[in-house]
Amino acid sequence: MRKTLYTTEQINEIVKRLGKQFTEKFKDEELPPVFIGVLKGAMPFMMDLVREIDCPLIMDFIQVKSYIGSESTGVITLKKDINEDIRNRSVVIVEDIADSGYTLVWLKNYLLKTYKPKALYTCALLDKKCKRKVPFDVDYVGEEIGDYFIVGYGLDYDEIGRNVKEIFVPDLEEQQILHEIAH
Ligand code: IMP
Ligand code: MG
Repeated sequence: MRKTLYTTEQINEIVKRLGKQFTEKFKDEELPPVFIGVLKGAMPFMMDLVREIDCPLIMDFIQVKSYIGSESTGVITLKKDINEDIRNRSVVIVEDIADSGYTLVWLKNYLLKTYKPKALYTCALLDKKCKRKVPFDVDYVGEEIGDYFIVGYGLDYDEIGRNVKEIFVPDLEEQQILHEIAH
């Protein structure tokens, strides 16, 4: 049996709460902030989050490669850069989950150095803080979780499972099935 970690209702509550926080933060911002979703895992979260934010904003996307199977490699490469001009704007990097921290550290450094935004914040729906390999605090966290490998709502097992509405921990049998589907 798969173990559901977050139902759609629970996810909605978390996303609504974050949306309110960003609305509050950016409601008097001069230039619309840019929300940068990290492809592909953050897509469902990004699309739900921006619709909970009640002020003008710009969306963009970035893609990096950083993860193979179920272990982080620490090696990050840029696959798709942003398209919008983020100079002098506040930026929020939107991630599905923070694990080792390598991805967010890399993205933050890359965007700060390359484009010099006015301010840069990080947001992750979930945070496996206990798994950090580099010290890093996410600015806006939906929920902190333990050391589970999870699938659904954007999170994948070798690309499979992103479209599942809830977030679940696949048991061994389900991992086997996902592995067979993916290969
Ligand atoms: P980090 O660089 O180790 O912090 O990893 C971040 C990336 O690893 C996220 O963008 C996810 O794509 C992926 N990731 C981390 N934990 C999980 C998980 O439990 N399930 C699926 N993907 C994960
Ligand atoms: Mg991923």
